[in-house]
Amino acid sequence: MGKLTLDRILQSQGFGTRKWCGEVVAAGEVSIAGQVISDNHISLETRGLVFGIFGEEWIFRENVYIALNKPANFECSRKASHHPGVHTLLPEQFARRDVQPVGRLDHDTTGLLLMSDDGPFIHTQSSPKRHIPKVYVATTHDPVTPGLVAALLAGVKLHDEPAPLAALTCSMVDTHRIEIVLEQGKYHQVKRMLAAAGNHCVALCRSQIGGLKLDGLGLAGGEWCYLDDAQLALLKPD
Ligand code: URA
Repeated sequence: MGKLTLDRILQSQGFGTRKWCGEVVAAGEVSIAGQVISDNHISLETRGLVFGIFGEEWIFRENVYIALNKPANFECSRKASHHPGVHTLLPEQFARRDVQPVGRLDHDTTGLLLMSDDGPFIHTQSSPKRHIPKVYVATTHDPVTPGLVAALLAGVKLHDEPAPLAALTCSMVDTHRIEIVLEQGKYHQVKRMLAAAGNHCVALCRSQIGGLKLDGLGLAGGEWCYLDDAQLALLKPD
């Protein structure tokens, strides 16, 4: 982004309108390296910029890439209706800079959810052509059987899908849990595949996307973190 005035910098980071950001700067609420900057006319290099606003430190980010450990009872849709939206788990300014989920998880599904304000990233990452494996752990109503695992590996026919859908890999975790890896992201896919194979999903958690594992991120339910370049590289197909 190069050089920008402080009001534009704050606006780009989602803190508010340019006018509001300008007023906050003029009121002496913004600092750089501990020094208050109240002049809106100075242009600053944005790359690597660290600034304080209302006593809190932020790093300038042209785009944000986030991993959220989604809890149950939060919706991914923008206009959440029955449950709060996942954006309510993030700082307010992220919604203002249009940070949104990359694909969707059902309101009752937990686990790894990527979020970003980088349109091309969201588009490529959620494209069905990208074939990024996603790992889910499903808790089943009835006991897991070798037949269930075999059926999911062989492929099951879903209503509205022309061809059967098969798991990339599938294995039993314990008597009532399976780990299932899918390359596609069809609507309610895990739940519908389990139903088509004669069982019922009672809880679902996404534990991994590509090479990025939820476990390695150390996030409790509802917590989020920024993803660095090495972590983003794990999201690319092999
Ligand atoms: N499959 C489902 O059924 N639900 C999800 O949230 C994700 C995959």
